[in-house]
Amino acid sequence: MQDVIEALEAKREEARLGGGQNRIDRQHAKGKLTARERIEVLLDEGSFEEYDMFVEHRSHDFGMEKQRIPGDGVVTGQGTINGRLVYVFSKDFTVFGGSLSLAHASKIVKVQKMAAKVGAPVIGIFDAGGARIQEGVDSLAGYADIFVENVLSSGVIPQISVIMGPCAGGDVYSPAMTDFIFMVKDTSYMYVTGPDVVKTVTNEEVSHETLGGASVHAKKSGVVDGAFENDMEALVQMRRLIDFLPASNKEKPPVRPSFDDAERIENSLDTLIPPNPNTPYDMRELIEKTADEGDFFEISPDFGANIIVGFGRIEGSTVGFVANQPMSLAGVLDIDASRKAARFVRFCDCFNIPIVTFVDVPGFMPGTKQEYGGLIKHGAKLLFAFTEATVPKVTVITRKAYGGAYDVMSSKHLRGDVNYAWPTAEIAVMGAKGAVEIIYRADIGDEEKIAERTKEYEDNFANPYVAARKGYIDDIIMPHSTRRRVAKALRTLRTKDVKNPEKKHDNIPL
Ligand code: HXC
Repeated sequence: MQDVIEALEAKREEARLGGGQNRIDRQHAKGKLTARERIEVLLDEGSFEEYDMFVEHRSHDFGMEKQRIPGDGVVTGQGTINGRLVYVFSKDFTVFGGSLSLAHASKIVKVQKMAAKVGAPVIGIFDAGGARIQEGVDSLAGYADIFVENVLSSGVIPQISVIMGPCAGGDVYSPAMTDFIFMVKDTSYMYVTGPDVVKTVTNEEVSHETLGGASVHAKKSGVVDGAFENDMEALVQMRRLIDFLPASNKEKPPVRPSFDDAERIENSLDTLIPPNPNTPYDMRELIEKTADEGDFFEISPDFGANIIVGFGRIEGSTVGFVANQPMSLAGVLDIDASRKAARFVRFCDCFNIPIVTFVDVPGFMPGTKQEYGGLIKHGAKLLFAFTEATVPKVTVITRKAYGGAYDVMSSKHLRGDVNYAWPTAEIAVMGAKGAVEIIYRADIGDEEKIAERTKEYEDNFANPYVAARKGYIDDIIMPHSTRRRVAKALRTLRTKDVKNPEKKHDNIPL
């Protein structure tokens, strides 16, 4: 009996070594953790239960029958994060460069299916060379099996991808269909085709970093939702993110004990809005002063920075914050901001997370770059997302709410549940200067007259009272009581029950 037990332990030991000590050393030399070390950092100590440790590929081509490594380049299983169940797969670059065989794919599909069945998030860690070249079409079939599970699980369980090394070809499309993608700076990159193919096809010379590094995807393309300094930081932040999320669409968001008084008054907010309406201020301050203990997990901080989105808690329960950021492009809605916020709003709605929206928006970004880029369709995404969302929606207008952007930013008209304005709010079709130049075109050149007309317009429209008189705003609140009022509104809305008309699915303007 002892022999049998020892034999199992020896087999496990061999599997744990993956592609061998040399390759593990090379992984460490690049500043990367191994697949198993990553799982250890991600999950609660001792909670990992591995599946399919002994699975091997079944390929006989190119001498592959002589190279079988238990586990076949991906470590899969389940464990807990702060006591809550998650499923995980972690690509092992030391085994055939983490490339994907059919056997490797079936291991991933197994955890995806288990996670969907029991209702728990899936976290995928990527560090791989794409399709296992020796397996040909079987590898492509394996990718497609994973994609199918990604799609079927979308909106059912949270799916998170963490890119910690190369990620190319087939490997990029599974992350692309998950809810969030994060990268590690300098050691990871993502692209559909690598620099060599780019050179052959387009004659363009680019490095891995310039083509698909974290600096590209977290800032320019918006493909990823955040970039971290190293493996450790990324994994610790994933633990933090999971704490905000429900395990599935059947659950309410988790509630953590909060020691932050919901009645807390923030007098400093009474002076957040500068006297000059064109002076920016940091909207993040309002979010942090509203959220429990100022704890805010921001999504995509470096992309579309004119809108802030992320998770916080109020009275211990997760909420999604969406807020225009006057510090960046005056908080205007452009293509990037609209896409970013629309996706976030839809995530919150899928997973029963109430949305708190802070508005200071001068409108949509004008110009050919935006129009040619499809601002109409992209802006409509955010309009669509806020409208279809049935989760509790609480909105506070702090300053500007102009034009179509006023409608879009979770206004009463788009089924906002509780809509407040600060006394500094200006709710109008456009800013006073633009408005006067249009309706009093004949007076242009006569500075005195224009100043008089502008003052008249500001007195009439650049305030929250017109909207409040019509019931478009439920109340004008003191900035210092924002947390108290938002918390109360969310408490009231806990029993909100609204359903959209039955349909197969909607047709959001993609
Ligand atoms: C089999 C692979 C492999 C692959 C890497 N390896 N990629 N084995 N299939 N796709 C193996 C290498 O042979 C090597 O084995 C080990 O992994 C490490 O690879 P290196 O090249 O030494 O590492 P590095 O220099 O760090 O380069 C990493 C890399 C490079 C940039 C990822 O390996 C690479 O370009 N690989 C090919 C990428 C690719 O074109 N994949 C196919 C994409 S097409 P040894 O034994 O020496 O350690 C695709 C289509 C799917 O994915 C579409 C589905 C929709």
